[in-house]
Amino acid sequence: MTQRILVTGGAGYIGSVIVDQLLERGLSVFVLDDLSTGHRNAVARRASFVQGNVGNRELVEALLEQERIDAIIHMAAFALVPESVAQPGKYVTNNVTAARVLLEAAVRAKIRRFVFSSSCAVYGHPAVIPITEDSPQAPVNPYGETKRDFEKLLADYGPRNGLGVVSLRYFNAAGATEQRGEDHDPETHLIPNILAVALGKQPAVPVFGTDYPTADGTAVRDYIHVVDIADAHVRALEVSLDDGAPVAVNLGTGAGQSVRQVVEGARRVTGRPIATVERPRRPGDPPALVAAVQRAATVLGWRTKHSSLEEILESAWQWHRAHPQGYRGGGES
Ligand code: UFG
Repeated sequence: MTQRILVTGGAGYIGSVIVDQLLERGLSVFVLDDLSTGHRNAVARRASFVQGNVGNRELVEALLEQERIDAIIHMAAFALVPESVAQPGKYVTNNVTAARVLLEAAVRAKIRRFVFSSSCAVYGHPAVIPITEDSPQAPVNPYGETKRDFEKLLADYGPRNGLGVVSLRYFNAAGATEQRGEDHDPETHLIPNILAVALGKQPAVPVFGTDYPTADGTAVRDYIHVVDIADAHVRALEVSLDDGAPVAVNLGTGAGQSVRQVVEGARRVTGRPIATVERPRRPGDPPALVAAVQRAATVLGWRTKHSSLEEILESAWQWHRAHPQGYRGGGES
């Protein structure tokens, strides 16, 4: 029988690509999104769309039961580190309290699998690079704390109630497909900000911190293509779990790029000069975050296929050029 999958946050940057991949594989897809940050026209027409929050118990219970959902991919959350520092309560309410309502409803509805969108932010400032999944969890901002806390809740509560739990800890999601790309307001992420300069929408890219203990003094991140991230979710729905134990898996490439390397790469890909301006470090930014990738290979049989810096930048550049106003300029379903 066709699997029926609920994707919360399916109108967001990563969620919308996951929805496309699930549909391509012939699954029935339901999207629950309150559109607080997502875009209605980022959701494929073939998916059923419900506007609402995961903390709305009545709505969620009815949805799981009436649509006979088999598995949940839970992406809906707030995800801006600086905002989480300014408004921690907003993050706890949505990312933990509301998510808990979804979890309880999932258990009641006897959902078999719960795939959770977690983050490398759970590690904080890691002492050892690359970061394995068993590294200490010491988040340095409320966003990371909410991801750690909900992961723990899931691991404690899900499996003992028959729910298979996979938490995927993304490193830096980037890149685009022909139809879906990154459109946040405000945009804080490095690659869209670089491309905004290439498009002439901003005069210069701020480089936050040039005195890090890294090869060129700028911060290093593990950029991973959104298509590869989506593929890992599709696999996580089916993978068998040892004795039903919860599992957490890094999603990264295992290689880091500095801010300056990303700017250089974008100059090559776009053929535009892309001015930069040096700025102080951004509060809360670790110097380097790079994933250990062995567990993803073992557990998910997964490795990145599209995450070279060139392919990430090329795909993002194509999307931003085709959609200079983001989804406000219209989307394609
Ligand atoms: N950066 C700049 N200029 C910019 C934007 C970013 O120099 O205009 C720098 C940042 O300071 C950082 C690096 O580029 O060193 C990457 O920054 P992003 O904002 O693109 O990504 P982050 O690593 O800060 O954040 C990402 C996710 C978060 C997640 C976090 C985990 O977006 O959701 O990784 O650390 F929590």
